[in-house]
Amino acid sequence: MMKVDVILGLQWGDEGKGKIVDVFTPRYDITARFQGGPNAGHTIIFGGKKFVLHTIPSGIFHPQTLNVIGNGVIIDPFILFNEIDKLKDAGMTPEKNLLVSRRAHLILPTHRLLDAALESEKGASKIGSTLKGIGPTYTDKYGRNGIRVGNITDPNFRIRYEKLKAEHLSAVGHMGFDYAAHLFDGFNFVDYEAKWFDSIERLRGLKMVDSEVFLNKSLDEGKTVLAEGAQGTMLDVDFGSYPFVTSSNTITAGVCSGLGISPHRIGKIYGIFKAYCTRVGSGPFPTELNDHDGETMRVGGNEFGSTTGRPRRCGWLDLPALKYSVMLNGVDSLIMMKADVLNAFPMIKVCDNYQTDGEIISGFPFDLADGRIEPQYQEIKGWNEPLDRCQSVDDMPVALGDYVRFIEKEVGLPIDIVSIGPDRLQTLMR
Ligand code: GDP
Ligand code: IMO
Ligand code: MG
Repeated sequence: MMKVDVILGLQWGDEGKGKIVDVFTPRYDITARFQGGPNAGHTIIFGGKKFVLHTIPSGIFHPQTLNVIGNGVIIDPFILFNEIDKLKDAGMTPEKNLLVSRRAHLILPTHRLLDAALESEKGASKIGSTLKGIGPTYTDKYGRNGIRVGNITDPNFRIRYEKLKAEHLSAVGHMGFDYAAHLFDGFNFVDYEAKWFDSIERLRGLKMVDSEVFLNKSLDEGKTVLAEGAQGTMLDVDFGSYPFVTSSNTITAGVCSGLGISPHRIGKIYGIFKAYCTRVGSGPFPTELNDHDGETMRVGGNEFGSTTGRPRRCGWLDLPALKYSVMLNGVDSLIMMKADVLNAFPMIKVCDNYQTDGEIISGFPFDLADGRIEPQYQEIKGWNEPLDRCQSVDDMPVALGDYVRFIEKEVGLPIDIVSIGPDRLQTLMR
C-alpha cells in the first residue's frame, strides 16, 4: 500500500522545510500542504535564484510533480496569486501543476483586520502574529462560519461574504480599532478588498479538486506523495507553547485531518530541526541568547523572517523540546539544518535538561513560561572551520560528525541529512 511521507518542523518553524521538500520532490509524484496558510514562508534557492513560498507547496519547481493545497490549509487568494505571478515572472507555469482543495477555507480581508485588532488589543502580551488573518480564519472554520474555496462558484457567494464581513467589522468596531488607518501589504482596506476579489476571479481558473479523494485515489494507483508541514511542533495549537502558538495542528496528526488521509496511510516521517534554535514572534524560548552569540547566529544564519522580515530570536539547541517533538510526531528520520551557521563557534552548547531549584524537571513542562525553568547545558567542541569544501559526509570535520552522533544518541534516531548551506546542492546525505 502506498503511503504519504511527511516532512515537518520540530522547533518553532523556519527549520528549512521548503529547502528539503524541494530536494526530495524529484522522488515524489505529488507534494501537498496540509495546514497553515500564508503565515508560512518557505525559502528555496537554486541556480542563484531565491523564491519564498507562502501557500504553494515547495514541490512546484519540478513541473512533473503535482502540488496540492489541502483542505487543512487556509488561503488568501491575493497572496496566492502574488506567489503565482512571481513564479510566472521567473518563467515557470505554476498553474499547470497546482491543485486546490475545494474544502480549504478562505482568508477574508476582514480576517486580517481582526487579526490586527486582536493583537493591538492584547498590547504587551500579543502573540506576535504574522497578521495574515490565521487565528480569525481558523476561528471561523471551527465556529462553523467560514467560507470555503468551493463556495466561490455559489450564486450567493457575495451575500455570504458581505454577511461575514459585516460581523467582522462590527467586532473590529467594538474593539475601537481604527481600520481606515491600517494597511495591508501597503494597501488600504478598500483597495485590498478590490484586489482580493480580482484574485477570487482568477481562483475560478485554477484546478479545484476534492483533494481527499484525489490523494487517496492517487495512492491506490501507486503514486508517491510527500506532505509538507508549515510552522513547527512548538507552534502546534495543542502542544506548542500555548497561547504563543499558531491556530492549527502542525504535527503528523494534522496530515490526516488536513489531507483526508487515514493514519494507516502515513509513511515515513522526517523531522527537521536546526543545529540551534530560532523563534520569531513572542512567547517562551528557554535557550534564547540575548548576547553576542545570539547575534552571531542571527547574522550568520540570516535569521530574519521569510514572511515578515522580523529578526528571529536565536539560541542553542534544546534537546528536551526536540525529544518532545519527536515523540508527538513519531519521527523516523531526522534532518539537521544550518550546521554551517555554527562554524563560527569554538564551543557549542546544547541544552540537555531543564531544572528548577537544582532538580531536573522530568517530562516536558506544561508551561514553558513559568519563569522557573533553568536550561542546563553541555559544552561540545565546535569544528570552527568553513564547510564549503564538504561534498559528502565523509568530508565533514570530525567535530561536526561528533556533534551529529551526540544528537543521534540523545534523541535515539538517525540524522540522515545534514544541510550546510541554503542552496539545493548544499545537502549532505548520510
Ligand atoms: P521553512 O519555513 O522551514 O521553509 O524555513 P525558512 O525558509 O523560513 O527559513 C530557513 C532559512 O534558512 C532560509 O533563508 C533558507 O534559505 C536558509 N537555509 C536553509 N538551509 C540552510 C542551511 O543549511 N544553511 C544556511 N546557512 N541556511 C539555510
Ligand atoms: P514557517 O512555515 C515561524 C509564528 C508567528 C507568531 C505565531 C502565531 O515558515 O515555518 P500566526 O500568524 O500563525 O497567528 O502567528 O506563530 N509563526 C511562525 N514562525 N515560521 C512560521 O512558518 C510561522 N508561522 C507562524 O511569528 O509567533
Ligand atoms: Mg519559514
